[in-house]
Amino acid sequence: MADAAPGRYAVFGNPIAHSRSPWIHRRFAAQTGRRVDYEAILAPRDGFAAALEAFHRAGGRGANVTLPFKEEAWRLADECSARARRARAVNTLVLRADGTRFGDNTDGAGLLRDLSVNLGLELAGGRILLLGAGGAARGVLGPLLEAGPARVHIANRTAERARALAGEFAPSGAVSAGGLDALPQGPFDLVLNATSAGVGGTLPPLPPGRWAAGAFCYDLAYGPAARPFLDWAKAQGARDASDGTGMLVEQAAESFALWHGVRPQTTEIIAALRRGMPAV
Ligand code: ATR
Repeated sequence: MADAAPGRYAVFGNPIAHSRSPWIHRRFAAQTGRRVDYEAILAPRDGFAAALEAFHRAGGRGANVTLPFKEEAWRLADECSARARRARAVNTLVLRADGTRFGDNTDGAGLLRDLSVNLGLELAGGRILLLGAGGAARGVLGPLLEAGPARVHIANRTAERARALAGEFAPSGAVSAGGLDALPQGPFDLVLNATSAGVGGTLPPLPPGRWAAGAFCYDLAYGPAARPFLDWAKAQGARDASDGTGMLVEQAAESFALWHGVRPQTTEIIAALRRGMPAV
């Protein structure tokens, strides 16, 4: 049954103009018969807390949060899910009527669902290479380890940052770390690019060698930002490669489920996005 009045939801980020979240959430709403008003809000880099507060006061019931505000959103949440606490980042906020905020992080669950359900990859027992040790890598590491791989090796341009992340997650599974120039012996089953190098149209400085041959290569970014890594993967003889379109839609579906109590179908929406990014 449709609500009497549409609930107000928004995604906050900077930049935000190219966000696909409003389009995705409107499709979810239409599919599940919910009346949802979902907009994109550009918050000033030093003005996220004020923008969120104003939206909440004006009747906002939920917010998605993207770069560069996920860590700040974690700090601004009154209460968080265990997975958001581990990620130290929040991409989904429930804005409660009593003025408090509940924070969750659906990025890792979205990635895992895309890898295992949509792409049919078996992660248990696999050898995974995670490139990058920033917010994106941190957000997916816990759920990746929970899938039971033989090992996750984190390789980062700044090796120390990778080691610190691995040390923190060591109690959750077999995780090792080092610089990009000192990768362990391959082959890997899955190579994930969680660096932001592609945003600048470049590749991380990856060492030569056939260590990605036969691996499934996945970029957490989507659209043009994923292009350099996907092209590189093909040239290396990767088994297959995918950008993060599926992760984007699956993390949105998790957020939608948290807010509305129903998980929408994602297959057609992923396919529509892949056919051509729609105008928002
Ligand atoms: P995000 O939240 O997108 O992860 P971040 O926390 O700033 O953003 O982290 C960016 C990640 O991409 C880091 O792992 C960064 O490496 P450093 O820790 O060495 O800075 C990585 N990165 C960004 N640009 C890169 C490039 N050109 N080559 C290699 N790694 C890069």
